[in-house]
Amino acid sequence: MLFRGWGDAVDGRWPDVAVVTDHVGVAHLVVTRHALVRRVLADPATFRPDNALDAVTPIPVAALRVLAAHRFRLPPTLANNGGASHPQIRGIVADALHPTRVAAQRPWLTALVRDRVARLRAALDAGVPVDLHADLAADLPLLVLARLVELPDAPVGAVKEFARAALELFWAPLDADRQAALAAEVGRFHRALRAFAATGGGLAARLRAAGHRTDVVVGALFFLLVAGQETTSQFLTLLLHRLTAEPAVRAGLRAGTVEAADVVEEGLRLEPPIVTWRRTAAVDTALGGTAVAAGTSVVLWLARAGRDPEVVAAPDEFRPGQPGSRRHLAFGAGAHRCVGAQLARLEAAVVVTEAAGLLDGVRVLRPPWCPDNLTFRMPDAFVIARDPAAD
Ligand code: HEM
Repeated sequence: MLFRGWGDAVDGRWPDVAVVTDHVGVAHLVVTRHALVRRVLADPATFRPDNALDAVTPIPVAALRVLAAHRFRLPPTLANNGGASHPQIRGIVADALHPTRVAAQRPWLTALVRDRVARLRAALDAGVPVDLHADLAADLPLLVLARLVELPDAPVGAVKEFARAALELFWAPLDADRQAALAAEVGRFHRALRAFAATGGGLAARLRAAGHRTDVVVGALFFLLVAGQETTSQFLTLLLHRLTAEPAVRAGLRAGTVEAADVVEEGLRLEPPIVTWRRTAAVDTALGGTAVAAGTSVVLWLARAGRDPEVVAAPDEFRPGQPGSRRHLAFGAGAHRCVGAQLARLEAAVVVTEAAGLLDGVRVLRPPWCPDNLTFRMPDAFVIARDPAAD
């Protein structure tokens, strides 16, 4: 389950907590119940976030040398920061993503998505297959993020490649050759980020003005460039794919009886792009009747928690608005709860509103394929074509 925490695994029978040993022999305590996951997230004194960005496959010396050559460092800034500086750094990032600033993006984003959808529809009408991941979902969140936060002047493709390389390097089971290649990619981008962090405006300047050293600014930008866009583009692809199998939901959207916002919540509950998130036990403790030694890696199975029958009436069914639907933990909880939740929800609601109609009368030529990864789904493509007999 550890590296494929979705699909068949998430529907299986699991105890409340289970010890699962990974590919390098490290034992993780996997937490499967909503109430227990929530308890861990709400108690940062007992379960610290320090290991949130640790590489699940230890990085060998050769790849570490590559990273060191680029002066790569990831000091605790946001997700892995259980220290005193966290609230202030988080506050500065949260200001940049303030709900008013996020809401102001809606008209621009709607126009952009509408334009893309019109072009995709024309292609489908002409009998040409379209890839809703590459042609719609992949770069949208980065384009929105760039409007909210001043970012280094790097081409979209380079940022996407770097972000996916980082997700693979830190969260995938890997061999040494692949680690070295990924370290080179991540290191190169980190170097560019370092230059921007020292002189760039916007968020970087605000973090510097608050007295944070360049390392911390780099760490915050690094995380934001990954968490702030790759997660959402993955989610958009997974949600659109799910909706191809939910004709009743699409009919409800068309008829105005189903709200896009409710579809987004069911999507987050059933198709979260982040399937697990980690904490480390700070002290000897217990969870679900199991003793947990200090230092244990605790894997919170967010995808499974969303299907907990104690929280939602029809856990496996996609029913927008059903009681408990919004109580998923796709954005985590507590002091580190996702700062970009509002933005991700807005982006997904716009895409559902504008693009769900594209899925009527199509067949799936290529469903998203997701590689082994502890935490991220990372769908690679989603290709559809017109099929009058489909619905
Ligand atoms: C569907 C899209 C997204 C999902 C599923 C998601 C999920 C998560 C999760 C599970 C966490 C860890 C929470 C915890 O430890 O309790 C997190 C943290 C975070 N996310 Fe997101 N996220 C998404 C989109 C975004 C976006 C769009 C941004 C910013 C533009 C963002 C920025 C952050 C930041 C900065 C943190 C660290 C917060 C802290 O440690 O204080 N995320 N996210």
